Amino acid sequence: MCGIIGYIGEENAKSILINGLKKLEYRGYDSAGISVVNNKSLITLRKKGRISELEKCEDINDLEGNRGIAHTRWATHGAPNELNAHPHVDCSGKISVVHNGIIENHSALKKVLEQEGHKIKSDTDSEIIVHLIEKFYSGSLEDAMAKTVKCLTGAFGIAAIHSDEDNIVIAKKGSPLVIGISNKGMFVASDVAAILDYTKKVIYLNDNELAVIMKDHYVVSDINGEQVDKIVDEITWSVQEIEKGGFDHFMLKEIYDQPKALENCLRGRVKDGKIKLSIDFPPNDIERIVIVACGTSWHAALVGKYLLENITNIPVEVDYASEFRYRNPLVNERDVVIVISQSGETADSLAAIKEAKKKGAKTIGIVNVVGSTITREVDSGIYIHAGPEIGVASTKAFTCQIVALALLGLYLKQERGLSVDQKIIEALYELPEKSKKILESSKEIEMIAKEFVNSKNFLFLGRGINFPTALEGALKLKEISYIHAEGYPAAEMKHGPIALIDEEMPVFFVATDSENFKKIVGNMEEVKTRGGKIITLTDQKDDTVESLSEHVIYVPKTIEILSPILNTIPTQLFAYHVSNLMGLDVDKPRNLAKSVTVE
Ligand code: G6P
Repeated sequence: MCGIIGYIGEENAKSILINGLKKLEYRGYDSAGISVVNNKSLITLRKKGRISELEKCEDINDLEGNRGIAHTRWATHGAPNELNAHPHVDCSGKISVVHNGIIENHSALKKVLEQEGHKIKSDTDSEIIVHLIEKFYSGSLEDAMAKTVKCLTGAFGIAAIHSDEDNIVIAKKGSPLVIGISNKGMFVASDVAAILDYTKKVIYLNDNELAVIMKDHYVVSDINGEQVDKIVDEITWSVQEIEKGGFDHFMLKEIYDQPKALENCLRGRVKDGKIKLSIDFPPNDIERIVIVACGTSWHAALVGKYLLENITNIPVEVDYASEFRYRNPLVNERDVVIVISQSGETADSLAAIKEAKKKGAKTIGIVNVVGSTITREVDSGIYIHAGPEIGVASTKAFTCQIVALALLGLYLKQERGLSVDQKIIEALYELPEKSKKILESSKEIEMIAKEFVNSKNFLFLGRGINFPTALEGALKLKEISYIHAEGYPAAEMKHGPIALIDEEMPVFFVATDSENFKKIVGNMEEVKTRGGKIITLTDQKDDTVESLSEHVIYVPKTIEILSPILNTIPTQLFAYHVSNLMGLDVDKPRNLAKSVTVE
């Protein structure tokens, strides 16, 4: 959600900032802007639309200088237009600010600032920040920033420059910010992806910290001005990992990354039949598991319920993070609350885990992005090691999250002194090869997709542990193709969705081997009778299924509790091909952002 990059050093800031913005574009892409300081004068350029629009501006050539900040926006307050684009500049034209987050008390602050004579031009909540800095400025941007953040309620990652100074001042609460260190200058970014081309040495800012960044050093302090010693972390992701690597889209690359990602997720986690995880509390204490997440990660959580209950016999509840945190949840010290998040930055998930901790629950994070805020909040964690996920629609993170949940289930069982079913471990290690096989059917899935590009609606049906697979299949299709799609438990169809079935309503059945297989075939009959078109995903050679279905997509067999991992891959490919054939922007679907750091 909104991307920030800043640079100060010996190099030309403009090209570094534009390059960084492109790497951040998945965080938001409705408008972009850049401010650079040259000879003590501030030049700012903003444009509606993608970074490419900003690049096309003739005025971009005027942006010379070795210090600047830039922003790519995902609108929260104020329409996506040039006026509301960041950076925002104060009335004196000397101060420029970019912001990620939401300022909840902006209306009250705006009123006061306007009464004091500040001219607020945009409809954003962010612009008031630059006017507050202007109000408090008396020769030190750092002091003005410290005073400003004390006035703000809400979430913020802020970067500011003043044309008379020689630094970038940043502040963080609730929205991520990292400092990048290199011998060619210093960086600030909302996401390491923006600066990986230049450095792998980073410092993660904590909430309520403020930093002054100069071209060869930095000073971090807390809200009261006390200096804070920070650890320099080394990023392990490579630049190649955040490139498309010959694929047309990040999403397709990330779907194809899955064999490797699953392998990496499993690597080193089983030794001599024993699960190796670092979960640092006694698993015998656990009475209940609650999983919280958002979006695709929430679907992984739903799979996790079936999976963990099956393996551990511990009751599991699943909640949307945004619902959990606001309803005074009944959790206590005998509960384990697991948060699943690809980015590790989702505001609702972060707030939910904080709430769980406050109530005494033990917390575990299943996260992809190393060093992200959630990883620093939880008691223990499992990194999924899926590698960078740039496409807004989550793919490889989902399948790896389920692997991590399976490993966690086996680990809890083992640590409770119970014997672990080696067949599950074997099946886990067969997944990378089997997922490779599925990728071979991409062309065939593309042919099927061709037939459905004009569909207005879609129904995805599955049972048991594959009900969440159906939900995820529907989400993937709707988010990137804008075709309305719903996921439903197949048996529930007769209690409502069956009313929608006609020749215009294609139904995607997830029907791999389970004790309910015959029942799901019964549901297919019900659809067929009403003229619905059926696509079936299965691991069974079954004449009835073939005769009922327009198309059958075959996947390799695995054990039922792991089947969502394989079954999801054809649904990802299907959504990808539909969207691509429709000529849509697969990696940057409208209105969405990869990482939602506002509540
Ligand atoms: C956004 C993304 C989704 C993602 C969800 C949760 O909505 O577009 O792809 O599933 O956030 O993100 P997280 O990083 O917490 O898994």
